[in-house]
Amino acid sequence: MSSGSRRASRFLQEKEDEVPQWIPGLGTDKPRPRTLGTSFFGYVPDAFVEKTPFLPSEKKATTPTPKDSETKEAEHKSEGAPNGQYLDPSSSKEFQRDMDASSDEGVVTEEVVVPQRVERRAAEPWDAQSVDSTDGSAQNRLLIKGGRVVNDDMMQDADVYIEDGIIKQVGTNLHTPGGTRVVEAKGHLVMPGGIDTHTHMQLPFMGTFAVDDFYTGTRAALAGGTTMIMDFAIPQKGESLVEAYHRWRSWADPKVCCDYALHVGVTWWCDKVGKEMEELTEEHGINSFKMFMAYKDTWQLDDHDLLESFKQCKEIGALAQVHAENGDIIKENTAKLLDMGITGPEGHELSRPEEVEAEATNRACVLANQIGCPLYICNIMSKSAASALGEHRRRGTLVWGETIAAALGTDGSHYYNPCWQHAAGHVLSPPLRNDSSTPSSLMELLDVGDLQTTGTDNCTFSASQKALGKDDFTKIPNGVNGVEDRMSVIWEKGVVSGKIDPCKFVAVTSTNAAKIFNIYPKKGRIAVGSDADIVVWNPHATRTISAKTHYQAVDFNIFEGMEVHGIADYVICHGRVVVEEGNVRAVSGMGKFVPTPSHSPYVYGRVQERDIANAPKKVDRAPYDGPVIQLNNQGLTQAVESSIIPTNQEFYTRGAQMNDKSPKRPSVKVHNPPGGKASGSFW
Ligand code: URP
Ligand code: ZN
Repeated sequence: MSSGSRRASRFLQEKEDEVPQWIPGLGTDKPRPRTLGTSFFGYVPDAFVEKTPFLPSEKKATTPTPKDSETKEAEHKSEGAPNGQYLDPSSSKEFQRDMDASSDEGVVTEEVVVPQRVERRAAEPWDAQSVDSTDGSAQNRLLIKGGRVVNDDMMQDADVYIEDGIIKQVGTNLHTPGGTRVVEAKGHLVMPGGIDTHTHMQLPFMGTFAVDDFYTGTRAALAGGTTMIMDFAIPQKGESLVEAYHRWRSWADPKVCCDYALHVGVTWWCDKVGKEMEELTEEHGINSFKMFMAYKDTWQLDDHDLLESFKQCKEIGALAQVHAENGDIIKENTAKLLDMGITGPEGHELSRPEEVEAEATNRACVLANQIGCPLYICNIMSKSAASALGEHRRRGTLVWGETIAAALGTDGSHYYNPCWQHAAGHVLSPPLRNDSSTPSSLMELLDVGDLQTTGTDNCTFSASQKALGKDDFTKIPNGVNGVEDRMSVIWEKGVVSGKIDPCKFVAVTSTNAAKIFNIYPKKGRIAVGSDADIVVWNPHATRTISAKTHYQAVDFNIFEGMEVHGIADYVICHGRVVVEEGNVRAVSGMGKFVPTPSHSPYVYGRVQERDIANAPKKVDRAPYDGPVIQLNNQGLTQAVESSIIPTNQEFYTRGAQMNDKSPKRPSVKVHNPPGGKASGSFW
């Protein structure tokens, strides 16, 4: 057994789903019981005990400290601002040669691996002290006073005291040093800053770059109450994954205003890609890899390569993610639609109907389940795909689902808008669904726990970029906004509509993501020792979303005109007040890269036990000792050989005749067919 397959993480989480929860003050004096129902994340004991959370580290963890990776980055920073060069991965020629050589390696005989119980390894402990050590001056002390603290499992009227970027105290009547800055939060909710699990800042895509870069995109994120994004480093086919990772770091590090992590794309497969995945996990703080089932001829993987990448994810304790759409069907449909003269943005939606998304979702779940690899489905856009996912979850498949602000806040009717620019502004993949019940259904699935996280797939293109596809919908750069408005849209469509409560809001906007991507409770929780990434939310204030007033660089907003309750009055990132009464005071480079450690207990905590429990068992039986027929050196019995070979020759003859323009097809007799002679003809 390889060393990698011996790795597994400690399962720190107790089985807590049945623990009754008490949420004080939800519009009633009496505490009311809250059952977590199908929510798979439980309650965290001692969440408000004043102590520094500590995860034991009996074994060396594989993820580098931020310092380690930053030192390495310095050596690799070379590219500066992105340009078209990226689109030609010629810098990877050496890597490609390596790949070719590696595929010629000798044949490796695999021994049969019987799953065994192995010692579990701890996830990377996170050390609050190392995160943001500053000079300890009064400027680094902040008290958020008089608000209601909301976590995913409880609410509490409490003050929050922050020092040097870390939450130091949560409670009432706190003793704080003189000179501490006070943020008055009376009537406000004090929640963990949002984590957007899915963005593409300045993505080079379809011949151009997404217009919101790591500066404008993360500044806008902060404006809306999101304090961390998770972006994707996506190599081209044939390109090194590690090189792509370094390029994204070199783009993001100098620009980010909030924290960020990276997922890495797997757009092609060979053994060396697998080795790079391991290197990224062990040395660069990457714990999730995304495979595309769409974008044929560019990023799409076939089932074989999906299986290989899933196996490798499991081996290294990373989470496999998929973009679930059937790229082959989309290609077929696209050709048909263009032939029919349907060239407008509606063609985008028509070429990728719901079942194309649902089929890929189901297939990804089946493939991952066969490997026993945990799976995360990105940007679920339809009820059909969500229902495929839900069925698998109920059967016990280890799969989690993300939906996005666009799917929760608007729908695909916009593709039929008579204004081309308006319709094209909504083009993204998978598309919005032309079904007005989709947004509320997806919100309900977040509430019951069938879906767990919310991202945005923020990948913005302005009108002149979208216009690349003015005569052909396949050339419209795919992507929409969302990073700035996600929190408000989910609050409006979820909490204001009564579909989810504030605790669930926190769960789906930050906590669940932090748990899945193994950065909890550093992120996604208001507790002593957690990062002071906090949004002071005014649930009563309203605003109207508009491209005219938003912070994003893009000139269009898919939520244009939507009035939303819920505004981030103050946003605190690493203990710094970066949004104050609606004004953003962010500085580029202020954010940090957040390494995501492998073997997330929330993802991998059950995998080892399952492999052991479900291992196929050999049946011990007496050997068969009766007669065995003989096969010749072609692997055939004499009877088969004499019946099939003459028949095949006649089939070849028939094939030639099919191309003949003759209106009549001659019948072909099959001599000695298997199963006896027949006297009829084939046609
Ligand atoms: O439309 C989208 N989603 N654009 C970005 C690329 C992707 O598929 O994630
Ligand atoms: Zn995406």
